[in-house]
Amino acid sequence: MTQNTNKDTAPNPESTQFGTKTVSAEEKTTLVRGVFDSVADNYDIMNDLMSGGLHRLWKDRLIRMIRPKPRMKCLDVAGGTGDIAFRIRKKAGPSADITIFDLNQNMLSVGRDRAIDKGWINKFDWITGNAETLPFPDNHFDVYTIAFGLRNVTHIDTALKEATRVLKPGGRFFCLEFSHVQQPILAKAYDLYSFTALPKIGEIVAKDRESYQYLAESIRKFPKQQELIERMTQAGLKNCSFSSLSAGIVAIHTGTKP
Ligand SMILES: C[S@@+](CC[C@H](N)C(=O)[O-])C[C@H]1O[C@@H](n2cnc3c(N)ncnc32)[C@H](O)[C@@H]1O
Repeated sequence: MTQNTNKDTAPNPESTQFGTKTVSAEEKTTLVRGVFDSVADNYDIMNDLMSGGLHRLWKDRLIRMIRPKPRMKCLDVAGGTGDIAFRIRKKAGPSADITIFDLNQNMLSVGRDRAIDKGWINKFDWITGNAETLPFPDNHFDVYTIAFGLRNVTHIDTALKEATRVLKPGGRFFCLEFSHVQQPILAKAYDLYSFTALPKIGEIVAKDRESYQYLAESIRKFPKQQELIERMTQAGLKNCSFSSLSAGIVAIHTGTKP
């Protein structure tokens, strides 16, 4: 048995990282909820602005890896305003059973409005809660997705174990998340962009510099590609692998429940 499997909590078991600040574990969840309360209304437009539209390509790539099928039972954790769930629904068709789960009621409300605009209001279950304590039975879903959500979760290892628990044997886990650029010159340019341009765009467009400063910091604190593979494996997933996209700005990690 190894000790200290929960790397989220170092240096003090009761403390964790909120961006670059050390805060208590409880405080982090509250602060993250505050960030997404604050960004919910501008979330979709800011995503396009900050990524130059690239987030759409990254999400499309995730969907191609999932290969959604009719009647698939899918859980989209940290589902926010519905981008991943809507794409799954589009590919899988009306028989797909899709639950959108998020800590933040405001993000889900924006998502519900978007679903109404698409004529899809009764097509999804919208549930508020924490990825660390999923209110679903064991062995329940064919697919678990978490896109740009895992880095916000206070105890990543707990969320990974919960993901494994609710998947059916043979069910597949997918995590799309900001990751780490390997190439040194690109990494420098990306750092410059994230720590100067991103908060500035947040300040001008969303009138909220702090939330976008948190975004840049939380990306740097997230485990590197290979470390996340190890933590997924520790959580009980098998055949874990990742694909880096856009030079490692994001990565898609995938694994299967045995
Ligand atoms: C950057 S948004 C991503 C939304 C959507 N998945 C997408 O790709 O556009 C991150 C989402 O994670 C949610 N979140 C943060 N911590 C969470 C947690 N512990 N459990 C569930 N959702 C969480 C936030 O409320 C927010 O809606």
